[in-house]
Amino acid sequence: MFDVIQNRRVVYGPGTIRELPGILRELTGNTVMVIAYSDKADCVRLAVHALEQEGLTYVLDASLRGEPSTDDIDRLADIAVRNNCGAVLAIGGGSVMDAGKAVAMLCTNGGNVEQYQMEGKPISVPALPVVAVPTTSGTGSEATKVSVVYNPANKLKKSFYSPSMIAGTVILDPELTVGLPKDITVSTGIDALSHAIESYVSLKATPYTEMFSLQAMKLIVENLEKCVRDPNDVEARGGMLLASYLGGCALNAGIGLAHILAQPLGGLIKIPHGVACAIFLPYAMEHNVGYCTKKYCDIARIFDACGEDGSILAQEGIARVKAFLKRLNAPDSIRQYLPEDFNVEKAADIVLGATGHIKNDANPVTRNVIINVIRRTV
Ligand SMILES: [Fe+2]
Repeated sequence: MFDVIQNRRVVYGPGTIRELPGILRELTGNTVMVIAYSDKADCVRLAVHALEQEGLTYVLDASLRGEPSTDDIDRLADIAVRNNCGAVLAIGGGSVMDAGKAVAMLCTNGGNVEQYQMEGKPISVPALPVVAVPTTSGTGSEATKVSVVYNPANKLKKSFYSPSMIAGTVILDPELTVGLPKDITVSTGIDALSHAIESYVSLKATPYTEMFSLQAMKLIVENLEKCVRDPNDVEARGGMLLASYLGGCALNAGIGLAHILAQPLGGLIKIPHGVACAIFLPYAMEHNVGYCTKKYCDIARIFDACGEDGSILAQEGIARVKAFLKRLNAPDSIRQYLPEDFNVEKAADIVLGATGHIKNDANPVTRNVIINVIRRTV
């Protein structure tokens, strides 16, 4: 059995940001709440200019810095409600899109976001329509019904979700990701790779999600190094943007140990999500390889290894992924993010309390596994 939630419309291609006014006009006659990572970025100015030319009213907020907090979401929803907004346009990376989805939900369901995130208040009213325009290639937030928000009260990054929170419309314009700095290209790209690999080997994977996972992996192998070598390669940027989207679609299968660690540690030690994924992914693969050998052989082949199905090829897959990360100069230690009073056992308890994905790995994730992996990355 599976239950798939997908976007209603996905527009892909260089220059497709210009479709935005027509799309928004179809969605609402009211003011549009624009949540953007910057009010000076070319794509945001272009979007705002297009809205003005079409006579659409909007409220622009570009104040988000990093991952959204519960306070950010409550404040943005208050702005949207006071301005009678009829749709939310989110232009930015995963943080901005997560904020957009949460704000759209809160506008129609009321209250504050902590009630939904921590207390399990039901999301009973459809969210406002959301248009998601990613400007990085990694989180796949544009393809999911999930929002991850930092709660300063308990220092936890925790997700909540509803089928109605998924962006109805997604614009994938590779030109918006051209020129992204190398470190962000790498960390977001490895986030996408982690989504593809972890969803592929998840116990909740289905033929439907496997299709997305495999294609996302292929596109990442073909395009991520090209983007690093030439940040202006629009074709490679397009490949990565599509990989990120497909990786997000694959997340219907859930994720595993790398994300089980990366998400709460992001709140606890302020390590950027993609960086944490890059550090934990090889350990997550080693953790599972003996429990789903055939799938690891499939991964190995995508990374150009060949041979008969079996443990040798499966292990070669991990070696190839490690070599790929090394060529990208990806980070491999959490040490620089650790506060002096970091306590690995306490951190493990927080990780265990924060995740909803603990049962996705074929090899069970226990407290000891979490402690061991954290210790090996320090
Ligand atoms: Fe992720």
